[in-house]
Amino acid sequence: MKRATIILTSAVLIAACCGSPKSNLPVYLDTTKPLEERVEDALSRMTMEEKVALTHAQSKFSSHGVPRLGIPELWHTDGPHGIRPEVLWDEWNQAGWTNDSCTAFPALVNLAATWDRELSALYGKSIGEEARYREKDILLGPGINMGRTPLNGRTFEYMGEDPYLAAQLVVPYIKGVQEQGVAACVKHFAVNNQETRRTKTNSNVDDRTLYEIYFPAFKAAVQEGGAWAIMGSYNLWNGQYNCHNKRLLQEILKGEWGFDGVVISDWGGCRDDDEAANNGLDIEMGTWTNGLQGAASNTYDMYHLANPYLERLRDGRAKQEDLDDKARRVLRTIFRTSMGPETHYGSFTSPEHFAASRKIAAEGIVLLKNNGALPLNVDEISRQVRNDNSLPTILLVGENAYKMMVVGGGSSNLKTKYEIIPLDAIREAFEGKADVVWERGYVGDTRTDYNMVVTGQDLSESRSADQLKADAVAAAKEADVVIFIGGLNKSKHQDNEGTDREDIILPYGQDELIEALAEINPNLIVVNISGSPVAMPWADKVNAIVQAWYGGSENGHALADVLTGAVNPSGKLPFTMPKALADGPIKTERQYPGIEVEGLPYWEEYYDEGVFIGYRWYSTQNIPVQYPFGYGLSYTTFELSGASLSKGAVKAGSNVTVNVTVKNTGDKAGAEVVQLYVNDAEASVERPVRELKGFQKVYLQPGEARKLSFTLTPADLSFFDAEAHDWKLEPGDFHILIGNSSENLPIDLLLTVK
Ligand code: GLC
Repeated sequence: MKRATIILTSAVLIAACCGSPKSNLPVYLDTTKPLEERVEDALSRMTMEEKVALTHAQSKFSSHGVPRLGIPELWHTDGPHGIRPEVLWDEWNQAGWTNDSCTAFPALVNLAATWDRELSALYGKSIGEEARYREKDILLGPGINMGRTPLNGRTFEYMGEDPYLAAQLVVPYIKGVQEQGVAACVKHFAVNNQETRRTKTNSNVDDRTLYEIYFPAFKAAVQEGGAWAIMGSYNLWNGQYNCHNKRLLQEILKGEWGFDGVVISDWGGCRDDDEAANNGLDIEMGTWTNGLQGAASNTYDMYHLANPYLERLRDGRAKQEDLDDKARRVLRTIFRTSMGPETHYGSFTSPEHFAASRKIAAEGIVLLKNNGALPLNVDEISRQVRNDNSLPTILLVGENAYKMMVVGGGSSNLKTKYEIIPLDAIREAFEGKADVVWERGYVGDTRTDYNMVVTGQDLSESRSADQLKADAVAAAKEADVVIFIGGLNKSKHQDNEGTDREDIILPYGQDELIEALAEINPNLIVVNISGSPVAMPWADKVNAIVQAWYGGSENGHALADVLTGAVNPSGKLPFTMPKALADGPIKTERQYPGIEVEGLPYWEEYYDEGVFIGYRWYSTQNIPVQYPFGYGLSYTTFELSGASLSKGAVKAGSNVTVNVTVKNTGDKAGAEVVQLYVNDAEASVERPVRELKGFQKVYLQPGEARKLSFTLTPADLSFFDAEAHDWKLEPGDFHILIGNSSENLPIDLLLTVK
């Protein structure tokens, strides 16, 4: 309401003084005028002080507008999984409003696991509607940093280990958000692939690795997604902080890629007056100046882009045209969002949003193993009625069957209207057909609050670890079905912003507990709820394994939908599930978490593994993994056939069409993700033995077949030649590999590039 009032007031004032409002609106207020004309008109009316104000925060999550001209401030909000509860003016803690409990959508790694572009668009639209309804102009998400190490504390907030997958899914998400008149602020740019010392680590990465692995998703976000905002990351690259890194922001993002939106610093990521003024930062947020110990007046005037900037503009150390460029970008963002050409009202916690959340969560659940225990056949179980007519018992073991996960984890923390836990959803699904009981089995994270948001659960526990385990084992002896639901959580050194994990081994003695349960009940089903890879040494000893995620408000329902077969699982791993951390490409301290260097104010980290991260590493090195990138089973089966190339040999500059038919050969409807990888048989540089360059998700009825076509461009076959600073396609043989995981590619088509 407040925003509409401002614009209306200005229009009414103008109308009062000079005739009918429409014809005489100043250009910048006239939403029918072209964007750039509005920007130039507003800029021409502004003083230098007003332009400088646009470039920095006025509160924890808002940056200045131009009150004199009726141009509203910009409201920023976390996060990628839902709209953060209102915070106090100068605080991280929530303001305690009672009307800001949102829909919690699944973690982005869960979205990535769907491999579904349409679902990503639905996700963006839904979260964009929630942001607009809460009158927020900039959504601080999505995050698309590559999964270089499985230890990264924010793996759950990102979209896996492959740049093509992340690029393909981030584009529809951005469009969905921005169609609601809300800017997506894609983060964290760039090579911010860990939480350990994230604010003082200098990422040393060669250009080829940057352009092949760490840039593509950001470049797609800008050039295909049309992202209106990009967040600079806390770390350094080439010795300069990324929130004001000249090469990264001016030369590459704005120069090479033509980005016309705003670069926003991560909160507190801006550290230097001169660099902030001159290196391409447009809005400084969250800086820790002295006055920020409370809502002291003129606190924000101490920001690098506040009084220090004014001084530099006045004494010539900063250029007027740079200020105008910053101001244009901020005005463009305002005229794209709150003062955009269409009026959006959004919607909040609607049934459609919860349904979308449930659908996305379920579609991303990955069936890793199934020797027949799944889907749980409700009727079959309920037929096991004993002579005393008692119902069969389904035992759930594990803290994650009960613990709510939407609260916590850092800036993606949410206050949601509700969160369905697995225990309640599975009870609901088996109402009247089986008794569903729960044993905690171990104690993980007992916290139930974050930034003053509380879950209302009581996770306190008086039993010892041994007692908890003994109780679970004893209950398993009596149960007809045992489902272990464990994994990680949002506490420190788990899936949590600000800290990394210390290994990929399941914490809290879960491995031993799973083994003990498998001893008793060989039909054990294991559900791992996590946002990042875990080791599964017991995989051969259990009947079924499901990788579930932080699915948001409908997490429990989504899991129950898959366990009961209401939804046929179609998720595919967006990252490799290695057998052990040591199998990965990171072998030295200098690679991760970095090394201290005498006299340097930051740590040095070297991406020595180059482009060989994730499956690029494991498949090229022939290292066996627990479950590979792109892998996921279904309750039905699929078959690929009839693969062909439009031509077996191409000149270097032309496209190739790849055709293949996929058929549902089982008795249940389901979806398959057909994946296409390329292999350059002979290259002048070391290339991964396969790289994902195409995928399509198809939903098929039993017996139904669908012919798919992929278009391969020369860029898809090229590598980045750092010397030439350009992509290079070398003549020779390529193998076009098609299948349904990075390790199952039965189709191999030979393509010769002349
Ligand atoms: C945090 C995060 C960033 C978040 C911002 C505002 O430190 O790094 O992702 O959007 O600050 O909370």
